[in-house]
Amino acid sequence: VAYTVVIPAAGRGKRMGADANKLMLTLRDKPIIAWTLQTFDTDPWCERIVLAIRPEERDWFEEITSQMKTPVTYVAGGEERQQSVHAGLKVVAPDTIVMIHDGARPFVKREQLHQVAEAARQGGAILAVPVKDTVKQVEDHHIERTVPRENLWLAQTPQAFQAKAILTAHERAVEQQVMGTDDASLFEWLGESVQVVLGDYHNIKMTTPEDLLFGDAILAKEELQ
Ligand code: CTP
Ligand code: MG
Repeated sequence: VAYTVVIPAAGRGKRMGADANKLMLTLRDKPIIAWTLQTFDTDPWCERIVLAIRPEERDWFEEITSQMKTPVTYVAGGEERQQSVHAGLKVVAPDTIVMIHDGARPFVKREQLHQVAEAARQGGAILAVPVKDTVKQVEDHHIERTVPRENLWLAQTPQAFQAKAILTAHERAVEQQVMGTDDASLFEWLGESVQVVLGDYHNIKMTTPEDLLFGDAILAKEELQ
């Protein structure tokens, strides 16, 4: 199943607390975004990579992508992730499957990408994992209720769709001023079906400083395998 991937990489990484874009931080011997890009560059199903970046960071990213064999298209990202993804979707061929994958998730595995791409032939599809902890709904530091956990999953990326269908969802969202924290939520909002593919707990998003520690541990484990 051939696909194009849109990778939003235009964030600032505020929660990471670094000075620059967190995707530039090093894990082992290379920047976080280089790990993410490598997975797609070496996947034979991946025909094109669309990278949404902040224009002032373009030279830095081009250095990373210069040795890659998969064609890369750059677009300017926006203030919010949703705008960055939307900018990327505009340059994707309408009749292909598009995956949307956070630049900040460097540990996704090819097998998972392929499962999501396959599932996307039937509609939207995302990777997600069951919630492990007990979830409380809290108001002013007091518990309002315990949310039953059985049906709760944590959404990850990639999230895959028919390119023209997810572009339409983004266009509607702009018209109606709807903001979602992921792409599936825009699809759901339109009443479209989204399939959940069981992912794995290694596919973390590098968000806060301790994620760098977890990332090192994940790479150490992979080296032993
Ligand atoms: N992203 C983007 N454009 C934005 C905001 C985010 O392309 N305006 C990208 C990030 O670069 C990241 C992915 O979307 O690869 C997921 O976002 P997140 O983890 O929230 O990254 P940041 O927005 O950079 O971090 P923070 O929210 O802590 O500032
Ligand atoms: Mg963010």
